[in-house]
Amino acid sequence: MDEHQQPASNSQQSLRRQFVLFASNFFKHPKMLGSIIPSSPFLVRRMLGHVDWERTRVLVEYGPGIGTFTREILRQMHPDAVLLVIETNKDFVEYINSAYADPRMQVVHGSAADIQRVLGERGLGAVDYVIAGIPFSTLPAAMRESILDATRQVISPDGTFLLYQFSPNILPALRKTFSKVTREFEPMNFLPAHFYRCSP
Ligand SMILES: C[S@@+](CC[C@H](N)C(=O)[O-])C[C@H]1O[C@@H](n2cnc3c(N)ncnc32)[C@H](O)[C@@H]1O
Repeated sequence: MDEHQQPASNSQQSLRRQFVLFASNFFKHPKMLGSIIPSSPFLVRRMLGHVDWERTRVLVEYGPGIGTFTREILRQMHPDAVLLVIETNKDFVEYINSAYADPRMQVVHGSAADIQRVLGERGLGAVDYVIAGIPFSTLPAAMRESILDATRQVISPDGTFLLYQFSPNILPALRKTFSKVTREFEPMNFLPAHFYRCSP
């Protein structure tokens, strides 16, 4: 290091570690991740701006990756609320467990397709919000439908499914499964994101 270089701060090191973890997993599993970069703060803020934190007691997150949404959910959620996160990638499960340990959070290494069984095993009832960034367009059609059906069944009658995608291809399947679908668009993200709010 020359005399003008500063040692990297802890937060810079942590950001670098997160980026390397996410990007290296993108090269291993491009279809499962769908993006080389985690979601932007603009998208996170916009999606979570629709959550009624005061009344919410059960949240589910599908595909937290390195916890871009998870961190903000934990910051805002009620002290008595429970957050269940389900992630297929073991590296991300280990990272979430080590970086965001919180007694209100339960981390499951598995697929969103198993949501009904996982909630049942944990005695968790109807879900207020399911928040998802999993790349539905690269999933096999049967898997996509089964995750959407299971999601509709676990959400409480006044609950909401919030999801973002990089293409609008999911829209017909959402409209077929949910009674009401509202669309928004967030350009300040890599890649610009289509964002949906669905009622069961
Ligand atoms: C585009 S990344 C999103 C990461 C993070 N939520 C964000 O917004 O930055 C998609 C994540 O979904 C996970 N994933 C893909 N299919 C899944 C499934 N069926 N169940 C749970 N997680 C899944 C991937 O491993 C990856 O972590």
